[in-house]
Amino acid sequence: MTLTADRLLDALTRSAATRYGGEIVSELEHALQCAELAREAGADEELQLACLLHDVGRFAVDQSLVSDTTERTAVGTGARGHHEVGADLLAPWVPERVAWCVRMHADAKRYLCSIEPGYHATLSPASQHTLTLQGGLMSPEAITRHAAHPWFADALRLRRWDDLAKVVGKETAPLTTWEPRLRAYLR
Ligand SMILES: [Fe+2]
Repeated sequence: MTLTADRLLDALTRSAATRYGGEIVSELEHALQCAELAREAGADEELQLACLLHDVGRFAVDQSLVSDTTERTAVGTGARGHHEVGADLLAPWVPERVAWCVRMHADAKRYLCSIEPGYHATLSPASQHTLTLQGGLMSPEAITRHAAHPWFADALRLRRWDDLAKVVGKETAPLTTWEPRLRAYLR
């Protein structure tokens, strides 16, 4: 199926009615907060876009395909993590780095939990819970392999904004401010 900007914008708009997996903000609030944190930090356009779209696997695809959900949906056989499903949806249509950062945002959490004392304690209960579903801590070999990737620092930045983008009632620019950029990338 063709992934159009209209389809993504529609999914994002509808995600305002869905709570972000076990958290207290909506999926749309979470996406907008994450993207805005990236923009405020001076991230380039691709990384901002990855932040806006990092959780599309939670709300733009059939959730029976997703294995690391905290909701009580029936998980189908062959289901995979929302980061994988979301990255696969985006990959044919966005720059490779955008889809890669989306794919890596669960591994970035696993990595930080493995190497940074105290990081795990900063995660929300829902995020701590899905860590197990996403593979738990990393082996030393996996830590070294991930750290060597030229885009992994971007995935870590996305991850830290992701963790902070759960503030109830925080004002952000509306989705419409991102629409021209989404349309430019998904032409
Ligand atoms: Fe997220």
